[in-house]
Amino acid sequence: MENRLEIDREKINGIIQRYNANPEALLMIMQDVSDIYNYVPPEAVPILIEKLGVKESLIYSVATFYKTISLEPRGKHIVSVCTGTACHVRGADKIMDALKEKLNIKEGQSTDDFLFSLEAVRCVGCCASGPVITVNKETHGGLDRSSVLKVIEKYEQNAS
Ligand code: FES
Repeated sequence: MENRLEIDREKINGIIQRYNANPEALLMIMQDVSDIYNYVPPEAVPILIEKLGVKESLIYSVATFYKTISLEPRGKHIVSVCTGTACHVRGADKIMDALKEKLNIKEGQSTDDFLFSLEAVRCVGCCASGPVITVNKETHGGLDRSSVLKVIEKYEQNAS
């Protein structure tokens, strides 16, 4: 994925229209934009301001508050390590360390090719399967160091 990308104004406008340009739907609109680009591109911000009549500061507040939304470019695959209590007890730290080493990035960073971003998240609701990671919307549980690396390798292979 390129760091800079062309945004499709029509798609952004379409999302805004789906919510009748309701400023109260800002969070959902930003989430839908994120679902396309994996982040809210800076080029989308003036469109949101113009069409929804919201302040720029509100857009930044939403992005700061909600971990699923970012104004910074993120990788095609967002790897989220659950650090909730149940996963923590079952070795989430080791999973995070294995991923940092494998991807050669820290938590909150993306790989140079923007294939992966690495994040920590709170309980994703499958505590019995811990330790758990999600990759975009797919959940992988019962992981150890070797199986989590296999999960990542699967995504690498699909990308090549
Ligand atoms: S603590 Fe990880 S899924 Fe609940």
